Amino acid sequence: MQYEVVLPAAGSGKRMGAGQNKLFLLLANKPILIHTLEVFQHDENCSGIWLAVKPEEREYIQHLLDKYSITKVKGLPDGGEERQHSVHSCIKEMEQVDIVLVHDAARPFITHDIIAKLTYTAKEKGAAIAGVRAKDTMKKVKDGIIIETVDRDSLWMIQTPQAFRFDIIAEAEDVAEKVGFLGTDEAMLVERLGHTVHIVEASYENLKMTTKEDLVLGEAILRKRES
Ligand code: C5P
Repeated sequence: MQYEVVLPAAGSGKRMGAGQNKLFLLLANKPILIHTLEVFQHDENCSGIWLAVKPEEREYIQHLLDKYSITKVKGLPDGGEERQHSVHSCIKEMEQVDIVLVHDAARPFITHDIIAKLTYTAKEKGAAIAGVRAKDTMKKVKDGIIIETVDRDSLWMIQTPQAFRFDIIAEAEDVAEKVGFLGTDEAMLVERLGHTVHIVEASYENLKMTTKEDLVLGEAILRKRES
């Protein structure tokens, strides 16, 4: 199933505390951003990559794309204040395609297998997102007090990629911008228009590189995959 992917890469990574865009940090001697891009560069079903970037980082990112022979990038539009704005700036520049995948550039361990399940489900049903089952006991807390123990069986931790038919995500992004709705993922924008969103069971390895501890885990995942 052919698709194009939107990779928001214009964050500041404050929680990483690296003093630079965390996507430029190295994992096994290669920038996190390149690990993610290589997954899509080497996926025969990916027909284009859209990367939202900070204007002041565009030149360096272009240098990385050339250095690592990432040739599928179709555009490097300006990112926005929030991640959702960065995604929207890519979608506004895209031509009509069948399926759009939105994936955090900070999740370098995504696999072709999960991408394929998402794109097939989105093609058939409209919208599909990656997630994993909650592992811990889940409680709702307010002011340091337990309000409720939530039934864990119905709880999933949501990741990216999130895959959509183009018309669905394009409309949802436009409406969200018009009414000033800010979601924490793309599925929220699609859900509020009444679309059904399907879950695809992904992997606990599909980490988002967020804090320094994630870098240690990331190195371990790469070592395991190479052995
Ligand atoms: O900060 P966090 O890791 O949750 O961001 C997820 C992804 O969204 C990262 O790849 C980051 O670069 C990107 N992002 C963006 N524009 C923003 C904020 C985050 O493209 N304004």
